[in-house]
Amino acid sequence: MPLSNDPFVLQDSRLLRHQPFVNGQWIDGDAPALAVDNPATGACLGEVETLSAASVNAAIDAARDALPGWKAMTARERSVRMERWHDLMLEHADDLARIMTLEQGKPLAEARGEILYGASFAKWFAEESRRAYGEIIPPPARGRRLLVLREPIGVCAAITPWNFPCAMIVRKTAPALAAGCPIILKPAESTPFSALALAELAQRAGIPPGVFNVVLGNPPDIGKAFAAHPAVRKLSFTGSTRTGRVLLAQAAEQIQKVTLELGGNAPFIVFEDADFDAAIDGAIAAKFRNAGQVCVAVNRILVHETLFGRFTECLAARVAALKVGNGLDPDTDIGPLINAAAIERITALLAEAKADGAKIHTGGQPHKLGGLYFEPTVITQINPCARLWREEIFGPVITLIPFRDEAEALRLANDTEYGLASYFYSRDLGRLFRVAEGLHFGMVGANTPAISSECAPFGGIKASGFGREGSSHGIDDYLEFKTVWIGGI
Ligand code: SIN
Repeated sequence: MPLSNDPFVLQDSRLLRHQPFVNGQWIDGDAPALAVDNPATGACLGEVETLSAASVNAAIDAARDALPGWKAMTARERSVRMERWHDLMLEHADDLARIMTLEQGKPLAEARGEILYGASFAKWFAEESRRAYGEIIPPPARGRRLLVLREPIGVCAAITPWNFPCAMIVRKTAPALAAGCPIILKPAESTPFSALALAELAQRAGIPPGVFNVVLGNPPDIGKAFAAHPAVRKLSFTGSTRTGRVLLAQAAEQIQKVTLELGGNAPFIVFEDADFDAAIDGAIAAKFRNAGQVCVAVNRILVHETLFGRFTECLAARVAALKVGNGLDPDTDIGPLINAAAIERITALLAEAKADGAKIHTGGQPHKLGGLYFEPTVITQINPCARLWREEIFGPVITLIPFRDEAEALRLANDTEYGLASYFYSRDLGRLFRVAEGLHFGMVGANTPAISSECAPFGGIKASGFGREGSSHGIDDYLEFKTVWIGGI
């Protein structure tokens, strides 16, 4: 039920939904409703209805029943609907961006960028669905033939985070749909309205009932329901490493296939031969997008000792000039953090680092705007054992340390349990290859902060998870190989 003083002024008010979407219907909740707050103001935006575990099971049953029809469609029939979904996202990009900024806090221009980024996965996988080729293998014996078919894995489940309330949903849903799999999505509790708007558009695009479902409710209960239902063959999760471990263990029950995109601790190395200005721009872009609440956000900057002082000074000046405010204000660079726990955690990490001798060059505390705003912060003299250096910060705080040579830079950069994204700046051709190969991460940005695209495999190694989303490989986890031997020919 929307509350009074509804701040959602949308061109298409039917995008604002408050109920779970199951089997092509907006259904009543049977568990306590969930209030959704605007992190910029603290005001309640409205409530969404939620489901009990029994109703989540019924949603999975609906997806299971929708599988044969969706799988039986030709790839072209599926792709036409997915292209329409993409087009509708673009058509409604302004409304979708506004919903996102209201419930998530990121600046409106960033939110709009995310809608385009999210939509790109619908288009990409609409195209990929028509290229899910099998194989004919030269048979090892006369009179026989050997074929490999690629078939949809079955019902899929996805659990998505609040930091990218559109893109992470489409990045998981589109390859499932393309492969011929129905999907049940549980979006983050803080950002359900974006997910429900995407479901509304999927329905308008002609995605049949039961093929794309959105369930809302208690996260551990829903996670357990996904794991326990024999129809669910695949789970894709983006979120913390802690929750990823729990979901992976639970998925063992039904031997479900799992994709995990978990935490990161991205290094950003600035070598002595780097383009200095480009490295400063890159560090700002790769750190402060979405107030630093990004799995691939830069967590640690390593600067060659000859540049360290100048780099720190320039970076601190640029960071101090970033404008903190409500994401609806067009001048805002950095919106609020998602909740009070995020502010408390960052405050605690900074307090520990300061007590250990860290030096703050700019920022360092909650912003004078109050609420969930935090000052963009630059720190040096960090102890490499500090949590601020070792853990994913997920906020607008960056630490810098100097290094002597390439070997030391690689050793420091790789000294983390995580392995998602990494970045470095250098103009030496040999070093570009050496360092890209020497970094133990799933993704490397060399002289660029922009590493996310529907065309490129996205994912990590080590405690950052496994599996790749996007690219031609992104559909693989949603398909099974079936080997067919034909004899007597
Ligand atoms: C993430 O933070 O998990 C997603 C970032 C991206 O896709 O660029």
